[in-house]
Amino acid sequence: MIELAPSILNSDLANIKQEVAKISKADWLHLDVMDGHFVPNLTFGPMFVSAIRTITSLPIEAHLMVDNPEFLIPLYGKEGSSRIIIHAEASCHLHRLIQQIKEAGCQAGLALNPATSLDCLEYLLPDLDLVLLMLVNPGFGGQKLIPEVIPKIKRLRKMIDTAGCACKIEVDGGINWENAALVIDSGVDVIVAGTLIYSDPHPEAAVMRLKNLKI
Ligand code: DX5
Ligand code: ZN
Repeated sequence: MIELAPSILNSDLANIKQEVAKISKADWLHLDVMDGHFVPNLTFGPMFVSAIRTITSLPIEAHLMVDNPEFLIPLYGKEGSSRIIIHAEASCHLHRLIQQIKEAGCQAGLALNPATSLDCLEYLLPDLDLVLLMLVNPGFGGQKLIPEVIPKIKRLRKMIDTAGCACKIEVDGGINWENAALVIDSGVDVIVAGTLIYSDPHPEAAVMRLKNLKI
Protein backbone atom coordinates (compact mmCIF):
# COMPACT_ATOMS: atom_id res chain seq x y z
CA MET A 1 0.00 0.00 0.00
CA ILE A 2 1.38 3.39 -0.94
CA GLU A 3 1.62 6.33 1.48
CA LEU A 4 -0.52 9.35 0.64
CA ALA A 5 0.54 12.96 1.29
CA PRO A 6 -2.33 15.28 0.25
CA SER A 7 -1.29 18.84 -0.63
CA ILE A 8 -3.53 21.53 0.90
CA LEU A 9 -2.42 24.15 -1.66
CA ASN A 10 -5.69 23.89 -3.63
CA SER A 11 -7.92 23.29 -0.61
CA ASP A 12 -10.38 25.89 0.69
CA LEU A 13 -7.84 27.86 2.75
CA ALA A 14 -10.59 30.04 4.21
CA ASN A 15 -11.82 26.90 6.00
CA ILE A 16 -8.52 25.15 6.62
CA LYS A 17 -9.65 23.33 9.79
CA GLN A 18 -12.41 21.43 7.95
CA GLU A 19 -10.14 20.89 4.93
CA VAL A 20 -7.40 19.30 7.04
CA ALA A 21 -10.01 17.12 8.80
CA LYS A 22 -10.99 15.70 5.37
CA ILE A 23 -7.51 14.14 4.91
CA SER A 24 -7.14 12.70 8.43
CA LYS A 25 -6.87 9.15 7.01
CA ALA A 26 -3.84 10.08 4.89
CA ASP A 27 -0.24 9.42 5.97
CA TRP A 28 1.28 12.90 5.67
CA LEU A 29 0.14 16.48 5.17
CA HIS A 30 2.09 17.96 2.25
CA LEU A 31 2.75 21.69 2.70
CA ASP A 32 3.83 23.54 -0.44
CA VAL A 33 6.13 26.36 0.66
CA MET A 34 6.87 28.86 -2.12
CA ASP A 35 9.03 32.00 -1.87
CA GLY A 36 8.08 33.90 -5.06
CA HIS A 37 11.70 33.54 -6.33
CA PHE A 38 12.39 29.84 -6.90
CA VAL A 39 8.79 29.57 -8.22
CA PRO A 40 6.38 32.34 -9.34
CA ASN A 41 4.10 31.95 -6.32
CA LEU A 42 4.17 32.78 -2.59
CA THR A 43 2.57 30.61 0.08
CA PHE A 44 2.91 29.34 3.65
CA GLY A 45 5.41 30.70 6.23
CA PRO A 46 6.82 28.76 9.23
CA MET A 47 4.05 30.14 11.50
CA PHE A 48 1.52 28.30 9.35
CA VAL A 49 3.18 25.01 10.32
CA SER A 50 2.68 25.76 14.02
CA ALA A 51 -0.95 26.68 13.28
CA ILE A 52 -1.80 23.48 11.39
CA ARG A 53 0.19 21.46 13.93
CA THR A 54 -2.67 22.28 16.35
CA ILE A 55 -5.41 20.96 14.02
CA THR A 56 -3.96 17.67 12.74
CA SER A 57 -2.08 14.65 14.09
CA LEU A 58 -0.68 13.94 10.60
CA PRO A 59 3.09 14.43 10.28
CA ILE A 60 3.80 17.48 8.14
CA GLU A 61 6.24 17.42 5.22
CA ALA A 62 7.38 20.86 4.14
CA HIS A 63 8.11 20.99 0.40
CA LEU A 64 10.45 24.00 0.25
CA MET A 65 10.25 25.49 -3.24
CA VAL A 66 12.61 28.26 -2.15
CA ASP A 67 16.01 29.73 -2.96
CA ASN A 68 18.64 29.65 -0.18
CA PRO A 69 16.77 27.04 1.89
CA GLU A 70 19.50 27.14 4.58
CA PHE A 71 17.73 30.11 6.20
CA LEU A 72 14.33 28.39 6.33
CA ILE A 73 15.25 24.79 7.27
CA PRO A 74 15.69 25.55 11.01
CA LEU A 75 12.43 27.55 11.10
CA TYR A 76 10.26 24.86 9.45
CA GLY A 77 11.96 22.24 11.63
CA LYS A 78 11.41 24.18 14.85
CA GLU A 79 7.71 24.80 14.07
CA GLY A 80 7.01 21.08 13.78
CA SER A 81 7.73 19.68 10.31
CA SER A 82 8.58 15.96 10.40
CA ARG A 83 10.12 15.95 6.92
CA ILE A 84 11.75 18.79 5.00
CA ILE A 85 12.16 18.51 1.23
CA ILE A 86 14.52 20.94 -0.53
CA HIS A 87 15.09 21.30 -4.26
CA ALA A 88 18.28 20.04 -5.91
CA GLU A 89 18.23 23.18 -8.11
CA ALA A 90 18.14 25.58 -5.13
CA SER A 91 21.72 25.22 -3.84
CA CYS A 92 25.23 24.05 -4.71
CA HIS A 93 25.66 22.77 -1.10
CA LEU A 94 23.14 19.93 -1.06
CA HIS A 95 25.15 17.58 1.15
CA ARG A 96 25.52 20.27 3.80
CA LEU A 97 21.80 21.17 3.63
CA ILE A 98 20.75 17.54 4.03
CA GLN A 99 22.87 17.39 7.20
CA GLN A 100 21.24 20.63 8.35
CA ILE A 101 17.75 19.10 7.90
CA LYS A 102 18.79 16.10 9.99
CA GLU A 103 20.29 18.37 12.67
CA ALA A 104 16.84 20.01 12.81
CA GLY A 105 15.47 16.57 13.73
CA CYS A 106 13.59 16.05 10.45
CA GLN A 107 13.63 13.42 7.72
CA ALA A 108 15.54 14.73 4.69
CA GLY A 109 14.02 14.82 1.19
CA LEU A 110 15.42 16.09 -2.10
CA ALA A 111 13.09 17.24 -4.89
CA LEU A 112 14.00 17.18 -8.61
CA ASN A 113 12.23 19.34 -11.18
CA PRO A 114 11.05 17.53 -14.34
CA ALA A 115 14.16 18.46 -16.36
CA THR A 116 16.69 17.68 -13.60
CA SER A 117 18.76 14.51 -14.10
CA LEU A 118 19.07 11.76 -11.49
CA ASP A 119 22.86 12.25 -11.68
CA CYS A 120 22.76 14.74 -8.78
CA LEU A 121 21.70 11.88 -6.49
CA GLU A 122 24.80 9.74 -7.07
CA TYR A 123 26.67 10.83 -3.90
CA LEU A 124 23.58 11.75 -1.84
CA LEU A 125 21.31 8.70 -1.97
CA PRO A 126 22.64 7.01 1.22
CA ASP A 127 21.92 10.21 3.19
CA LEU A 128 18.37 10.74 1.88
CA ASP A 129 15.15 9.52 3.44
CA LEU A 130 13.18 10.46 0.30
CA VAL A 131 13.52 11.67 -3.29
CA LEU A 132 10.60 13.72 -4.62
CA LEU A 133 10.18 13.62 -8.40
CA MET A 134 8.17 16.59 -9.67
CA LEU A 135 5.70 15.47 -12.36
CA VAL A 136 4.83 19.12 -13.12
CA ASN A 137 6.84 22.34 -13.11
CA PRO A 138 6.56 23.58 -9.51
CA GLY A 139 4.53 26.61 -8.44
CA PHE A 140 0.87 25.70 -8.83
CA GLY A 141 -1.61 22.90 -8.18
CA GLY A 142 -3.97 21.51 -10.81
CA GLN A 143 -1.43 21.20 -13.64
CA LYS A 144 -1.13 18.35 -16.18
CA LEU A 145 1.40 15.56 -15.45
CA ILE A 146 4.43 15.66 -17.78
CA PRO A 147 4.49 12.10 -19.22
CA GLU A 148 8.21 12.24 -20.12
CA VAL A 149 8.98 12.04 -16.38
CA ILE A 150 7.41 8.56 -15.91
CA PRO A 151 10.54 6.70 -17.16
CA LYS A 152 12.53 8.73 -14.61
CA ILE A 153 10.54 7.07 -11.79
CA LYS A 154 11.48 3.63 -13.11
CA ARG A 155 15.15 4.60 -13.43
CA LEU A 156 15.18 5.97 -9.88
CA ARG A 157 13.51 2.79 -8.58
CA LYS A 158 16.30 0.74 -10.20
CA MET A 159 18.99 3.12 -8.87
CA ILE A 160 17.71 2.84 -5.28
CA ASP A 161 17.21 -0.93 -5.42
CA THR A 162 20.69 -1.45 -6.92
CA ALA A 163 22.27 0.77 -4.25
CA GLY A 164 20.31 -1.05 -1.53
CA CYS A 165 19.25 2.27 0.03
CA ALA A 166 16.17 2.75 2.24
CA CYS A 167 15.32 5.99 0.43
CA LYS A 168 11.64 6.36 -0.57
CA ILE A 169 10.35 7.66 -3.93
CA GLU A 170 7.64 10.33 -3.79
CA VAL A 171 5.94 11.95 -6.80
CA ASP A 172 4.20 15.30 -6.86
CA GLY A 173 1.87 17.09 -9.26
CA GLY A 174 -0.77 16.16 -11.82
CA ILE A 175 -1.92 12.87 -10.26
CA ASN A 176 -5.45 11.94 -11.38
CA TRP A 177 -7.58 8.79 -11.65
CA GLU A 178 -6.35 8.16 -15.21
CA ASN A 179 -2.62 8.13 -14.40
CA ALA A 180 -2.45 7.08 -10.71
CA ALA A 181 -2.17 3.31 -11.35
CA LEU A 182 0.55 3.82 -13.98
CA VAL A 183 2.52 6.06 -11.59
CA ILE A 184 2.20 3.63 -8.66
CA ASP A 185 3.18 0.73 -10.94
CA SER A 186 6.40 2.60 -11.82
CA GLY A 187 7.69 1.93 -8.30
CA VAL A 188 6.50 4.87 -6.20
CA ASP A 189 6.31 4.71 -2.37
CA VAL A 190 4.54 8.02 -1.61
CA ILE A 191 2.06 10.03 -3.68
CA VAL A 192 1.31 13.75 -3.33
CA ALA A 193 -2.15 14.65 -4.59
CA GLY A 194 -3.90 17.97 -4.10
CA THR A 195 -6.47 18.74 -6.77
CA LEU A 196 -7.52 15.09 -7.12
CA ILE A 197 -8.48 14.96 -3.44
CA TYR A 198 -9.95 18.41 -2.93
CA SER A 199 -11.90 18.54 -6.20
CA ASP A 200 -13.68 15.31 -5.25
CA PRO A 201 -17.20 15.72 -3.75
CA HIS A 202 -16.06 13.24 -1.08
CA PRO A 203 -12.36 13.93 -0.29
CA GLU A 204 -12.29 11.41 2.56
CA ALA A 205 -13.40 8.64 0.18
CA ALA A 206 -10.90 9.83 -2.44
CA VAL A 207 -8.09 9.49 0.14
CA MET A 208 -9.07 5.86 0.86
CA ARG A 209 -9.56 5.05 -2.83
CA LEU A 210 -6.11 6.38 -3.77
CA LYS A 211 -4.38 4.66 -0.83
CA ASN A 212 -5.93 1.30 -1.76
CA LEU A 213 -5.67 1.62 -5.53
CA LYS A 214 -5.02 -1.81 -7.03
CA ILE A 215 -2.43 -1.78 -9.81
C1 DX5 B 1 3.24 22.15 -7.09
C2 DX5 B 1 3.18 21.45 -5.75
C3 DX5 B 1 2.21 20.30 -5.73
C4 DX5 B 1 0.76 20.69 -5.97
C5 DX5 B 1 -0.11 19.46 -6.00
O1 DX5 B 1 4.34 23.02 -7.13
O2 DX5 B 1 4.45 20.97 -5.39
O3 DX5 B 1 2.31 19.67 -4.44
O4 DX5 B 1 0.28 21.53 -5.00
O5 DX5 B 1 -0.43 19.28 -7.31
P1 DX5 B 1 -1.86 18.72 -7.78
O6 DX5 B 1 -2.90 19.69 -7.34
O7 DX5 B 1 -1.71 18.61 -9.25
O8 DX5 B 1 -2.01 17.39 -7.08
ZN1 ZN C 1 4.51 19.85 -3.48
